[in-house]
Amino acid sequence: MPDGNLWESGWLKTVSNKQHTHVVNERDLPMNRNLSRLKKFEPERESLLEEIIGGLSKSQKELPSKLFYDKKGSALFDEICELEEYYLTRTETSIMTENIEDICSVLGENCLLIELGSGSSKKIRLLLTGLANPAGYVPIDISEEHLISSVQVLAADYPELRIFPVYADYTQPFTLPNFEFTPSKKVVYYPGSTIGNFEPEYAARFLNNIGKRLGKGAGLLIGVDLKKEAKTLEDAYNDKKEVTAEFNLNILERINREHGSDFILDAWEHLAFYNIDHGRIEMHIKSLSYQDVQLNGSLITFEENETILTEYSYKYSIDDFKDLVSDSYNLERVWTDKENKFGILYFEVK
Ligand code: AVI
Repeated sequence: MPDGNLWESGWLKTVSNKQHTHVVNERDLPMNRNLSRLKKFEPERESLLEEIIGGLSKSQKELPSKLFYDKKGSALFDEICELEEYYLTRTETSIMTENIEDICSVLGENCLLIELGSGSSKKIRLLLTGLANPAGYVPIDISEEHLISSVQVLAADYPELRIFPVYADYTQPFTLPNFEFTPSKKVVYYPGSTIGNFEPEYAARFLNNIGKRLGKGAGLLIGVDLKKEAKTLEDAYNDKKEVTAEFNLNILERINREHGSDFILDAWEHLAFYNIDHGRIEMHIKSLSYQDVQLNGSLITFEENETILTEYSYKYSIDDFKDLVSDSYNLERVWTDKENKFGILYFEVK
């Protein structure tokens, strides 16, 4: 399949009947000859609002976790990654650091790295430094400002690297840039256990779909948080400094700002716990009293102690995860830490 329309129809079709429409345009970045213009697939404001209203109309009210990542939320998430209790980032980084030579030799020379949810583009540096002659780097992120600032820093630090930034919600349709070269291999890099934020059936469809579109031999290097005792998990989502609480409540602040609602932040509380039956952390925002909130001309009522679900974070065993994507992928390699807290898995498309 030609590169130009690899992602033409999106990685995940038929999530719902209503697909988001995207405004596609390009934005100039201060140029380094290897830094391409930003490709933008901007979600329609209206469709986000529909998603918000739809979620708040369910019996278990919910909000999409992608709303976390505005400028403030992305900065808070960076802070979370540094927290003592949040072992995920630290553990993943140390596994990468300790095994970087091995990982890079598995990926080989001249590979094109495509990162889903590149954020501050910090994690990719280990690969970019370790790889022999990477063909290019495609960071894809839902926070435009975060993406722009991070690729500028990256372009200055890696002047020889071809960078093709894409501003998009990668669960929705978008196209990859046209590459004027043929990489030895395309590798999707999906670190941070972000896959855990999708329900397993969705995660399976999403990854299998990527595999089908990339074609045989393409790689998937993915970070997966592993199952462990509840205390460690719950501490990671209930940090003492309450940065996670601020990150969670920022969703309401964002909806107030962008959609004119009147959530009173003091009337809500962060809640996170491990649901052992489902193998997932659940993050909610709890209403501290009976209250009405105005959103887009209608009133939404919340009971005292009623919650809005904002995020699932699924935890897997390596075998479970291998089975999850076995339709399209073979598991080639696994790297983990001594305590088996976190796994970095490398798959190839069958
Ligand atoms: C992005 N994702 C993997 C994080 C997680 O651990 O599920 C998001 C997060 N939510 C609260 N803390 C971090």
